[in-house]
Amino acid sequence: LNIRLALTGFGSVGKGFAELLQQFGEQYEREYGARLVLTGVADRGGAVVNPEGLDPTVLLEAKQRYLTVSGAHLGEPGLEGREFLQKTQANVLLEAASTNFEDAEPGWGYAREALGLGMDVVLASKGSLVLHYQELMEMARKQDARVLFSGAVGAPLPILELADRALIGAGLQGFEAILNGTSNQVLEAMSEGSTYEEGVTIAQEIGVAETDPTLDVDGWDAAAKAVILANALFGVHVGLQDVAREGIREVTASELKEAARDGSRIKLIVRMSKTAGGVQASVGPEKRSQLDVLGRLRGIELGIVFKTKLLGDVTSTIQDAGGVPTALTVVRDVFNLARDRGWVSQL
Ligand SMILES: NC(=O)c1ccc[n+]([C@@H]2O[C@H](COP(=O)([O-])OP(=O)(O)OC[C@H]3O[C@@H](n4cnc5c(N)ncnc54)[C@H](OP(=O)(O)O)[C@@H]3O)[C@@H](O)[C@H]2O)c1
Repeated sequence: LNIRLALTGFGSVGKGFAELLQQFGEQYEREYGARLVLTGVADRGGAVVNPEGLDPTVLLEAKQRYLTVSGAHLGEPGLEGREFLQKTQANVLLEAASTNFEDAEPGWGYAREALGLGMDVVLASKGSLVLHYQELMEMARKQDARVLFSGAVGAPLPILELADRALIGAGLQGFEAILNGTSNQVLEAMSEGSTYEEGVTIAQEIGVAETDPTLDVDGWDAAAKAVILANALFGVHVGLQDVAREGIREVTASELKEAARDGSRIKLIVRMSKTAGGVQASVGPEKRSQLDVLGRLRGIELGIVFKTKLLGDVTSTIQDAGGVPTALTVVRDVFNLARDRGWVSQL
């Protein structure tokens, strides 16, 4: 079985996905019973489409040489939107383009067009989920399509998978989490004597920083994840304005040093708790003991502590983040989709 995929965005995550196919495509096919075939890829320069399948190596080379995938053989500068999606004949849209919280484009437009064309959708980008969660899910329901987005909420932490499957019946009451690697990295670099800018540069090199890193350090990215999780975990329809948000710009080197003296670190923490009328959600810097599950996370490590009635704290942490690990969440969403749809029997 071939699963045909249209990919929008060919940056850290998109290229990471192509690298995974290059290295592990055949192994996935053997283990899970389906071949992942890229039939179209788009970036800002245009697109390249071949319904028979594109070679990931050729895509990566073209991107490096021409700075756009449309430089590859069969590439079409300027090809985008519905016309691009139609030409790909894909089963699933993988949306991994830059995002924003003003109009959520290009992800919102691509997600709507793909659903309209009968495709399922896997989102790594957050904008459309933050601004249009209900509308998106309603559209998917009408089309009998699926929208998966484990890459959009603290990738590659298995947050949704854990909550949806492993915490059934446990009485989820809330969580506290570190969901933004860039802020974590900047705070750590500053506590070790580097500047704020040096911290951002490290995060950019690893590929965890947003295209515009102010979204990370001002807490917007973490707040966006909180909004999506309020919707996904608690069915509560909140927006960015409902999350109390403070970034890390005000945290000083001397505060970080002082925290270190008593065995603590300052971390950007997302908190959410269920209330009678909905949820209470916040993002802000907190002093945490280095012995604490979240306080001990270094660099770009991410973690979540679910608060449950019957199991107490249920924790997941992860050491690696960035383009390839996020691309892996896209791979797992596609195979989970394939299993739920009955496309594969080996899973
Ligand atoms: N990196 C991570 O660790 C991570 C983790 C979770 C989620 N995400 C999300 O995943 C998405 C991609 O992240 P990234 O790190 O790969 O970003 P990135 O390296 O900045 O790449 C963004 C890509 O989007 C493309 N793009 C921008 N506008 C477009 C448009 N109108 N049409 C088609 N393509 C467009 C860019 O094209 P050009 O190459 O032509 O500039 C680029 O290829 C973002 O929404 C991000 O929030 C990232």
